[in-house]
Amino acid sequence: MRLRKIPIDFLWEGLELSGDIYNDRGSVLLLKRGEVLTQDRLDKLSKFERGGYITTSEETYQEILNSGKAPRAALQRVYEEAVGYTALKNDVDSIFSVTRNASEINMEATETVTKDIFTKIKVLDFPKIFQCIDAPREMDENLQRHSLNVAFTNGVIGQWLKLPEPMIKKLVCAGLVHDIGKTKIPEEILNAPRRLTEEEFEIIKAHPVYSYELLWDNVDEDIRLAARHHHERLDGKGYPDQIAGDEISLLARITAISDVYDAMISQRSYKESMIPFDVLEKFKKGEFPGLDERLVDLFVKNMVANYRDVKVQMSDGRIGVVRYIPPNDLNHPIINCNHDVSQTDDKWYCVCIANQTGK
Ligand SMILES: [Fe+2]
Repeated sequence: MRLRKIPIDFLWEGLELSGDIYNDRGSVLLLKRGEVLTQDRLDKLSKFERGGYITTSEETYQEILNSGKAPRAALQRVYEEAVGYTALKNDVDSIFSVTRNASEINMEATETVTKDIFTKIKVLDFPKIFQCIDAPREMDENLQRHSLNVAFTNGVIGQWLKLPEPMIKKLVCAGLVHDIGKTKIPEEILNAPRRLTEEEFEIIKAHPVYSYELLWDNVDEDIRLAARHHHERLDGKGYPDQIAGDEISLLARITAISDVYDAMISQRSYKESMIPFDVLEKFKKGEFPGLDERLVDLFVKNMVANYRDVKVQMSDGRIGVVRYIPPNDLNHPIINCNHDVSQTDDKWYCVCIANQTGK
């Protein structure tokens, strides 16, 4: 019998096992079919299997996965492993820690990750990429997730703009390194679990210049400038150089949009995460002044088109499919849920993007 590996945190108290449970290697029978899991048994499993995995039959594995009861964070992790997002996240994490310790960017590693992302953008479907981008995240992985997400979003926008491949690669790379200057900001300010004081915000505002400086002279100047200018605004009200209009490159303008999108989607210490439809409505209403309006229009239009038919988790716990997003009411999409088609409102709304492969 073929056994499947499954993380222990997929199991829950009260689960009646439809199949036997074995250890990580499948060599020792731990629990028999028909047994009901108690918290005590779960604790023992975790203690016994330090790697955090057990094995079981394909049928039991599928049953657990499709029960809708496995913790969402655990499901998301497995999904991200399948898409290859986890490996990329770890690569980005190591690029950032090397930079933090050595004050130098490993460009070879950065270029390898850039190529990987570029390849994934070409072969992966939009919902798969955005299920990873839009996922709730832990505070301590914010910087690497954000960098990776901006790299992906930059690349996707580059494709929508039908830019030549070398340009899309530059966009992906710029997304990866745009915030690398944050490695020079003290962590107690960067991860402060509250709103920043004006003084602290001034310190944070130095990060685009640090990013620019950390990228050596031999790194493409377009990439360096995109990093330096991703907080500049067309009205001249951005930072650090307060340049305006045409002085801001296309790469920097695109990176600014990806940056704002991911910042809105993510949960920060001082704000809750938002769902994509709410963020897109804000973009459309012009709530982020100084962005390139033509690019914002293109971004919103394509995001809306691509979110059609994507699976979402609803506030009542059910899984629905986005059927239509009204152009003048982007944050109230029409959802098909168990053959019942309704528009979302304050009482019934989308909580997050659901696993695209099953429940
Ligand atoms: Fe930034």
